[in-house]
Amino acid sequence: MTEEVHDVRLQVNGATHAVTVPARRLLSDALRHDCGLTGTHVGCEHGVCGACTVLMDGRPVRSCLVLAVSAEDTEVTTVEGLAEDTGEDDTVLSPVQQAFSDCHGLQCGFCTPGFLTTITAGLRANPDPTEDEARDMIAGNLCRCTGYQNIVKAVLRAAELTREGR
Ligand code: FES
Ligand code: FES
Repeated sequence: MTEEVHDVRLQVNGATHAVTVPARRLLSDALRHDCGLTGTHVGCEHGVCGACTVLMDGRPVRSCLVLAVSAEDTEVTTVEGLAEDTGEDDTVLSPVQQAFSDCHGLQCGFCTPGFLTTITAGLRANPDPTEDEARDMIAGNLCRCTGYQNIVKAVLRAAELTREGR
């Protein structure tokens, strides 16, 4: 029996990707395998680790819990879409990316795309978090390397950079 497939137009990082997928295709797999955007990482595949977090219409979602067909008519932002395109040959790191670099917020980097997207949305909701609020902001994401301390510092640094207009 051949599986029924669906034509879906995904809007990702400002570009349209016309993909043909079975109804069961996860958004995480569609992003990685159909759109070639492998910055979104897949860890647990059941909503626990947060590595696959992307923004849908600005809100963080676990892309392993979203079906690709249901993402049509939404604006998806992956980690690849966070850096600012300067219009020249270069891109500028977003404040959250810059802060991770400044504060050594990553080691192996596997969890990092999910943290970057989660914190980007978190700082839009709360631009001036306390340390406790920074910890709450990242509480749904797992990291096996860093002990979280430098990630919390990076949240606070990113807030600073954003306030400074960076
Ligand atoms: S891979 Fe989606 S939450 Fe872990
Ligand atoms: S930096 Fe390795 S899992 Fe977080």
